[in-house]
Amino acid sequence: MSRKIVVTGRIPSVAITQLRQIDETTVWAWDADEPAPRELLLTELEDAVAAVTLLDDRVDRALLDRAPLLQVVANVAVGYNNIDVAACTERGVIVTNTPGVLTDATADLTLGLVLMLTRRLGEGDRLIRSGAAWRWGMFMMLGAGLRDRQLGIVGLGQIGTAVARRAKAFGLDVVYHNRTRATPATEAELGVRYLPLDELLATSDIVSLHCPYTPDTHHLIDAAALSSMQQHAVVVNTARGPIVDEAALVDALESGTLAGAALDVYEHEPEVHPGLRSLDNVVLTPHLGSATVETREAMALTAAQNVAAVLTGALVPNRVKV
Ligand code: DGY
Repeated sequence: MSRKIVVTGRIPSVAITQLRQIDETTVWAWDADEPAPRELLLTELEDAVAAVTLLDDRVDRALLDRAPLLQVVANVAVGYNNIDVAACTERGVIVTNTPGVLTDATADLTLGLVLMLTRRLGEGDRLIRSGAAWRWGMFMMLGAGLRDRQLGIVGLGQIGTAVARRAKAFGLDVVYHNRTRATPATEAELGVRYLPLDELLATSDIVSLHCPYTPDTHHLIDAAALSSMQQHAVVVNTARGPIVDEAALVDALESGTLAGAALDVYEHEPEVHPGLRSLDNVVLTPHLGSATVETREAMALTAAQNVAAVLTGALVPNRVKV
């Protein structure tokens, strides 16, 4: 009997081909850029054994109730805060993600955002595009160099580590905070120092967020955290929007208690706090962390491999644990 795999959104076709090669399966895939209507997905999931999901699909109890045959939810993302993992686990549904393959792309983007912010590249681009008269000037649009400045990395997982390696090449002094402290050997190899979060926030020139979004990290960067930072400091978020209290961030930027912010992710994505759009000391990108052709293919293929492993009873490579 054929087993049904539902792919909830458009993913690279190589992954669909790979899913179709899993024995005794049929694939139903939504193939448009706009999201599939939720009710349609719920109906398609009623007889599905696997769901390949995107980061804005909500996998909650209501969905699971409608999908009694489901064995695996394979998220095409490293983050899985869109999935109620506890509810899946209760029902024996395996949850997988795609770590590793998007590390470089996200770390590259992070350094791009750091440079955009510290060297005022967005402002410069807007100035030229505006058609306003300008000429080179000794004091025009001065930014801050990176050498010997302190970068505070919050979350030294794969992406945080890749950011640390790149940051060293720019001459940044890298400190980090992580739930579990890295081994002395890792710290020495990366050339990074551990700091408690409050010290990291109080002393860093640039704070870059790379922790997962969980109840513990909800509004980790709130009004109190922001006010503990130096006035010339900037925040970069390529992790998940709700780690930052966006309203408090706008207040801090407007009042000048924080010098700038670069955001790739938003608290109420895809909504963006209107206060952010009008500020010049803010760089805003539309969740582009993993947005390279090769990365998106690798993510989709990883998800397909995860599905294949579950459906063939093999060892599941990227199983998320509660
Ligand atoms: C992820 O995989 O969690 C990223 O946010 C995708 O860009």
